[in-house]
Amino acid sequence: MKVSIIGLGKLGASMAAAFAHRGFTVIGVDVNQKSVDAINNGRAPVQETGLDEYLGKNRERISATLSHDEAVLGSEVSFVIVPTPSDDSGAFSLQYAEWAFSQNGKALRKKNSYHLVVLTSTVLPGATREGLLPILEKESGKRVGRDFGVCYSPEFIALGSIIKNFLNPDFTLIGEFDERSGAMLESIYAEMVENGAGSARMSLENAELTKISVNTYVTMKITFANMIASMCEQLPGGDVDVVTSALALDTRIGGRYLTGALGYGGPCFPRDNVALSFIAGKLGVDSSLAKTTDTLNRSIAERVTGNIAKELKPGSTVAVLGLAYKPFSHVTEESQGVQIAEALSRRGFRVVAYDALSQEMSVAEHNWSFLVLDSLGECLSQSEAVVITVPAPEFAELSEIDFENQWATVSVFDLWRTLRNRLSKSPRIRYFGSGLGTDEKLEPLRKLWTGKSTALPITNAS
Ligand SMILES: NC(=O)c1ccc[n+]([C@@H]2O[C@H](COP(=O)([O-])OP(=O)(O)OC[C@H]3O[C@@H](n4cnc5c(N)ncnc54)[C@H](O)[C@@H]3O)[C@@H](O)[C@H]2O)c1
Repeated sequence: MKVSIIGLGKLGASMAAAFAHRGFTVIGVDVNQKSVDAINNGRAPVQETGLDEYLGKNRERISATLSHDEAVLGSEVSFVIVPTPSDDSGAFSLQYAEWAFSQNGKALRKKNSYHLVVLTSTVLPGATREGLLPILEKESGKRVGRDFGVCYSPEFIALGSIIKNFLNPDFTLIGEFDERSGAMLESIYAEMVENGAGSARMSLENAELTKISVNTYVTMKITFANMIASMCEQLPGGDVDVVTSALALDTRIGGRYLTGALGYGGPCFPRDNVALSFIAGKLGVDSSLAKTTDTLNRSIAERVTGNIAKELKPGSTVAVLGLAYKPFSHVTEESQGVQIAEALSRRGFRVVAYDALSQEMSVAEHNWSFLVLDSLGECLSQSEAVVITVPAPEFAELSEIDFENQWATVSVFDLWRTLRNRLSKSPRIRYFGSGLGTDEKLEPLRKLWTGKSTALPITNAS
């Protein structure tokens, strides 16, 4: 089967590679000549794990063009994966999708056979049917359901593992205009997935809500674990890993995204959560659950920085390890590492930062108030304190000797507890693991319960 992918960014280029890997013939379209050229030369237009390799290996089945006509006329189905950036209200803007749909509509006008248009970009409930579908009908002069089909089918992928997630999803989500559209897409996915995952088929609006509900639910789960971590820090011997590992045994809860560490970041979670609040408000529904999650998440970097600052001499040099929002990514959007580094800088500390992928972060464009160094060793040798912001294997492999420098002791703030076993007993290191309490924390509880027990009447059981 021939598929076209409109938008060859992080998601679109990865989908093109995955489809070709599964034997589909793929025509990609982008408005950016550089992306088109890269694909035609078998190279990745964006940085993503395995993308270069998959594109290179399947080169004979992938081509790219600037022309929507060529793509639509040369394929049976088009996936539209263009940006839907958040606007000031928290909603997702349709400006790029509208343009892509009008181009697709014009191409459909020239086509004599049935074509399926699948919107993959994240949109809010109602956007596909009310915002975009009329553009296709107007520009093509054709009728949905009769001449062409429409689905809304977002992907549940994580940056850094897009191709793997795409080929091995938990399920594929299909919002369908009608039975024919949904059945066609379901059969395409059945050929495409490697793990036999089934499809959840539903109306366009239910699928639009499902997509943002999944991400918003996960943000609540992360934030809940972070609240438990903060409570553990105030308990004698408190240990968030002990508590969440037990919670994970309950099948109603499960262990994923329940670590209790820093907040969530990146290009999807924060904005999907805000967008859900926006649409709930428009529907007259109270969304305080999602709003509170967002507020708590945005407060974490400042709170953590306050705790770190209390332990350090003013003006000391602090190394922040990890600037991307997660390991193996170069994306710094809404990253806790960047927020903590900036907040420490504002408090007068000299901050030096390291990230394995800093070369791909366009550091000069960010105007950050801290220094980004190329070498982890250089960062550690200058610093009296170290803050680890992501659970990257590279940081988990550090040992006591790596922290040796001119200072007699080095403070390590291990926000994912990756070095707990290696460093917490070291005499040269003041180790602070997030979500861990100490015996000094006994006092508030003693006060609470001693007060209560003395107030109780003493009865003689005999
Ligand atoms: N990146 C993620 O982790 C992720 C995850 C889930 C969902 N999404 C959603 O997928 C969509 C795309 O995200 P992305 O990260 O791939 O974006 P991106 O910015 O990396 O890529 C978008 C691409 O679309 C191209 N484009 C824009 N208008 C076009 C048009 N009219 N015709 C052809 N090409 C056009 C751009 O040049 C760019 O190459 C967004 O709605 C996003 O919310 C992204």
